Amino acid sequence: MYTDNKNIIKQFPYLQSVKNKDIVYFDNAATTHKPNKVVDAICEFYKSNNTNIHRSTHVQGAAITQDYEDSRKCIAKFIGAKNNNEIIFTSGATESINLLANSYGRKNIQKGDVILISEIEHHSNMLPWTTLAKETGAEIQIIPLNEELMVDLSELKLILNNKVKIIAIHHISNVTGIMQNIKSIISIAHKFNIPVFVDGAQAPSHIKIDVNLLNCDFYCFSGHKLFGPTGVGVLFIKHKYFKQLTPYKTGGQMVVTASIKKPKWAEMPLQLEAGTPNIAGVLGLRAAIEFIKEYGINEIIKKEEELNSYMEMQLKNIPKLIQYGKYNKTAPIFAFNIKNIHHYDISTLLAQNNILVRSGHLCNQGLMNHLKIDGCVRASLAFYNNSNEIDKFISVLKKIISFLK
Ligand code: ALA
Repeated sequence: MYTDNKNIIKQFPYLQSVKNKDIVYFDNAATTHKPNKVVDAICEFYKSNNTNIHRSTHVQGAAITQDYEDSRKCIAKFIGAKNNNEIIFTSGATESINLLANSYGRKNIQKGDVILISEIEHHSNMLPWTTLAKETGAEIQIIPLNEELMVDLSELKLILNNKVKIIAIHHISNVTGIMQNIKSIISIAHKFNIPVFVDGAQAPSHIKIDVNLLNCDFYCFSGHKLFGPTGVGVLFIKHKYFKQLTPYKTGGQMVVTASIKKPKWAEMPLQLEAGTPNIAGVLGLRAAIEFIKEYGINEIIKKEEELNSYMEMQLKNIPKLIQYGKYNKTAPIFAFNIKNIHHYDISTLLAQNNILVRSGHLCNQGLMNHLKIDGCVRASLAFYNNSNEIDKFISVLKKIISFLK
């Protein structure tokens, strides 16, 4: 049983500051806490540099440009990208997907084409594609799932054809913590020359990402769900697609010749990074990745496996609990309802007892419809949680149930 997380939480200022208040933070799928390293990197930038990148000739500007580009290198390495210029900085996973849909999508998807998504994507990996389909006249088709909420690979093979222009699928579900069999999905799709976009919003804080091994064409994630800052994210675009992109935003630094008639766009990745970026955010994200590397992703995985099995065991003892997505769970994310009790009542009473979870549709109304529910409670853990917190959560949950029944 994993109880001793003292040394970990020492490194997280928020967790340290609430440690005597007995707060249990089980809302990590919404956002994770930031280690000192990240907070320091952000403060350090504003305190001792605070210059813009890619434009000024002064020493400070050159130094910060170097730091920014080194961060790109660090992130490329972290996710196994072969080239640094395959990493585009965005404001988060949502912007990454909107960028892809508007840049790659508008240039390559037309009336009559098909975009394949699953019906259990969170809103950010659904609405950019449905909007693109509406505007181009393309059609959205649904990826078949099996009863365990996994893509049904044999059914998938049957619906692929040359009209399908992209597959967009999550890596790890924000509701259930289930990981899709991405490598197999990609290898099937590539037999039909269909590119695959993987929404990794929930993945890199729980597993090792290797875009090269997965062989995915596009991949994205947010900084703030990876112990990094809000307002920064990444879109990975495989080199071979560079010629098939159009600028998504126009403005400073993404143009070489800003001619009125015939502008010449900058090379990748700057072509997709118009305007002054979130420099502090990028440096903070790099610090988060350095933190993970120092701590060790394998150590994180090991701790989460323990949390996963302990929580599973404890949930079994809760009467009338309906858990969603029990099988193939990778991340310690638990979605459930208690028969005849509203999820909002449970999360409110948990919060009154200092246990922070999320309830409702969890920005995934597709999955709620699929499960035929209007919402649920979600307890999402990170490696810095421990089994004592699970005990507290379970004991308060039991009290709430007996109070409300
Ligand atoms: N950020 C959303 C969540 O809490 C999607 O899961």
